[in-house]
Amino acid sequence: MLATELLALTLATFAVPAFAHKNREFHNVHTHGIYPIQPRNYITPETRRDSYDYIIAGGGLAGLVLASRLSDDGKTTVLVLEAGGTGDDQKSTINAPGLTYFTSLLNTQFDYADKTVPQSGAGGRIMRWPRGKILGGSSAVNGMYIVRPNSAEIDAWHDLIADDSNKAYADSWTWNSLYESMKKSESFTPPTQDSENTAGMKYNAGSHGSSGPLHTTFPAYMIPMTSAWLPTLAAAGIPTSQDAYSGDNLGGFFSTMAINPTNLTRSYSKSAYIDPLPPRDNLHVLANAAVTRVTFSDNVQDGNRVASGVEFASSVSDTVKSVAASKEVILAGGAVGSPHMLLVSGVGPKDVLDSAGVSVQVELPGVGQHLQDHLATGVAWATTEDTQGTIYQSGSDFSKSAEFLSYVNCGTSYVNGSYLFDGDESFSSFVSQIKATFNDPTTLNPLIPSTDSAVAEGYKAIYQSYVDKIIPKAGMIEILFSLNTPGVITVQTALQTPLSQGRLYINSSSIFDPPVIDPWYLSHPADVVVLRQALKKVRSFSQLSPLKELLGEETRPGPSVQTDEDWENYARNNVNTEFHPGCTCAMLPKNKGGVVDASLKVYGTSNVRVIDGSVFPLSMSAHLMAPIYGMAEKAAEIILNPPTSSSSSSSSGGSSTGTGANGSPTGGSNNNNNNSGAAPVRASWVVVVGLVAGVLLSSL
Ligand SMILES: Cc1cc2nc3c(=O)[nH]c(=O)nc-3n(C[C@H](O)[C@H](O)[C@H](O)COP(=O)(O)OP(=O)(O)OC[C@H]3O[C@@H](n4cnc5c(N)ncnc54)[C@H](O)[C@@H]3O)c2cc1C
Ligand SMILES: *[C@@H]1O[C@H](CO)[C@@H](O)[C@H](O)[C@H]1NC(C)=O
Ligand SMILES: *[C@@H]1O[C@H](CO)[C@@H](O)[C@H](O)[C@H]1NC(C)=O
Ligand SMILES: *[C@@H]1O[C@H](CO)[C@@H](O)[C@H](O)[C@H]1NC(C)=O
Ligand SMILES: *[C@@H]1O[C@H](CO)[C@@H](O)[C@H](O)[C@H]1NC(C)=O
Repeated sequence: MLATELLALTLATFAVPAFAHKNREFHNVHTHGIYPIQPRNYITPETRRDSYDYIIAGGGLAGLVLASRLSDDGKTTVLVLEAGGTGDDQKSTINAPGLTYFTSLLNTQFDYADKTVPQSGAGGRIMRWPRGKILGGSSAVNGMYIVRPNSAEIDAWHDLIADDSNKAYADSWTWNSLYESMKKSESFTPPTQDSENTAGMKYNAGSHGSSGPLHTTFPAYMIPMTSAWLPTLAAAGIPTSQDAYSGDNLGGFFSTMAINPTNLTRSYSKSAYIDPLPPRDNLHVLANAAVTRVTFSDNVQDGNRVASGVEFASSVSDTVKSVAASKEVILAGGAVGSPHMLLVSGVGPKDVLDSAGVSVQVELPGVGQHLQDHLATGVAWATTEDTQGTIYQSGSDFSKSAEFLSYVNCGTSYVNGSYLFDGDESFSSFVSQIKATFNDPTTLNPLIPSTDSAVAEGYKAIYQSYVDKIIPKAGMIEILFSLNTPGVITVQTALQTPLSQGRLYINSSSIFDPPVIDPWYLSHPADVVVLRQALKKVRSFSQLSPLKELLGEETRPGPSVQTDEDWENYARNNVNTEFHPGCTCAMLPKNKGGVVDASLKVYGTSNVRVIDGSVFPLSMSAHLMAPIYGMAEKAAEIILNPPTSSSSSSSSGGSSTGTGANGSPTGGSNNNNNNSGAAPVRASWVVVVGLVAGVLLSSL
């Protein structure tokens, strides 16, 4: 099985590093429980204050952006509680971009290494969901792509929240607004002349930021075969994008990467937003401190519950400690951590809380719902030319140079439906089938992983946004050029517009037990059809120069896969996460199963916000860092300078019942969530696949 996994796409060398140097540096990590005090902002549990203005639960990507911005005035007191370590003893692994594939922190103590429940739409497999448990969160362990979404996606997000919200807040979530805040987070540096000569990347510096904390640029060295990427795409009918960063990201391009060009190190939320700060007495960072729950006071303010602070502990056996928040508790635990914290705190669907033995503080059926993710697989060929993996494995002096180690995969492209379906006519017939599924309750209802009427309305609103606003304009598939395996060239395909939605819930009241993750992958039949179309296109690239000249035989899936049914079967049995789960605390109206309003406040609370990758209501055709950096920047502005016409925020009302979602297709009136065993719905145009049991991941 290992051989399969090594070839296995999906940036899969993340999951199983091709060359495990895992023991490197690990002699240092047994400082667990000892809190390093060197850098000024770190504290110990004993040196914490009793109370802070803001407590940020989760020192990941969004959490550290907020920590930096909210403490900027030198007065406002901010505490960051991070479940993982500081990562300061892992610097060399974190810093060298290329090592992300070869000496990854995944599958170490710095990775939650979550798993899904078996996915019936994906061969019954249990899938890995890596997630950084370290200051910087997943931005410390990830692949560093900085890609911005399509403007149609952000404007569709705005439309989902606009009618129900204070306009001043809702207008924060338009493309124009997010574009500005994504630029604010960034300092862009053009490629080196060598890199540009090799890969021929295009960019428009005017679309990028020039004075933000996060460094973005391209690797200082590009593998020679990257020169084949843009011309091959062009030969395949995918034009080279001249500027993928100002709202239209269709076409082929090289992504900018989160790399600091001055010393070719990873730029991530900690190195960008925290490490360079001058001493700040008002900002405290406590590592190895998992928030075990948000505590609520007995006060009720305008019908909303008031958080008094949080409790935290370093492990299940540690004594639980508490700390008060005089202004707000901000959850920034990410797409898994934030809904998990809400649920163990008693904020969520009543049936879930009841069965986990958690007393209900705020009944909120949308917590953990609307889960959407990108799924990736691909086609691989043997090559005798040097890949990144070949050079790394050689052990040559060059393979140890900073320039070489700055290479990370960055060739990408987003393609639309008419490309995938060979023309507008067959694409519109596909869209009609998606609409027919939507309009027929017998096909629609089984796709909704909840019988709660508000959640069902949210599912439908999101579905309609995809069909009417996103799929006609934005990329449905990302196609990526992957060169990190020795002797193998992989072209990956990743679904960007999933109509399948799942959910995350708990079966334990302890934050130290993992939540139950059920993405309901490929439950909507259209998703596998889109992947199939993409895989067929990608195989055809092998006939096109200049890629053709680099390729030997196709090693995955190989010549036995020929028919549409074969391809769908292959997709179901080989997709894995592209590491972009989100939407589990969706910003949606409350009567659509929303968790936060347009000001990012949790419905039914007066002072709890969620600010991280869980709040997007929709999947976007982007790797999630760029939109999360932008969203967190915008959120800090909203907190520090609330938009003026905002006195009556929409987040009123305590526990939710009914919420005016008449005509729920399921007729459900409570939260009996549907279960994971449901088979994917089979519309007439979908080939029913025989699921191959033998392709289960072996090393779980
Ligand atoms: C392997 C991998 C590769 C990826 N590659 C890319 C890429 O190339 N480009 C890209 O744009 N995106 C990529 N991503 C996705 C991107 O990293 C995430 O979307 C992003 O980091 C999410 O930001 P966040 O702030 O929502 O959460 P995170 O960055 O995950 O931060 C959440 C933090 O909260 C902490 N936390 C959680 N629960 C608690 C608790 N109870 N108490 C205290 N702390 C808690 C966590 O330990 C973590 O530090 C990748 C992700 C992974 C896992
Ligand atoms: C879809 O992509 C093709 C290029 O592959 C482009 O020519 C066409 O204009 C795009 N259509 C839309 C609606 O963007
Ligand atoms: C890289 O350079 C930046 C300055 O641009 C500096 O802040 C950072 O500490 C450096 N990192 C390393 C590992 O040298
Ligand atoms: C869950 O979905 C299945 C179809 O997949 C349906 O038959 C069943 O009634 C649903 N269960 C609930 C509780 O809604
Ligand atoms: C919770 O669910 C997980 C599967 O996601 C399972 O392994 C675990 O045993 C369950 N725990 C309880 C207490 O039911």
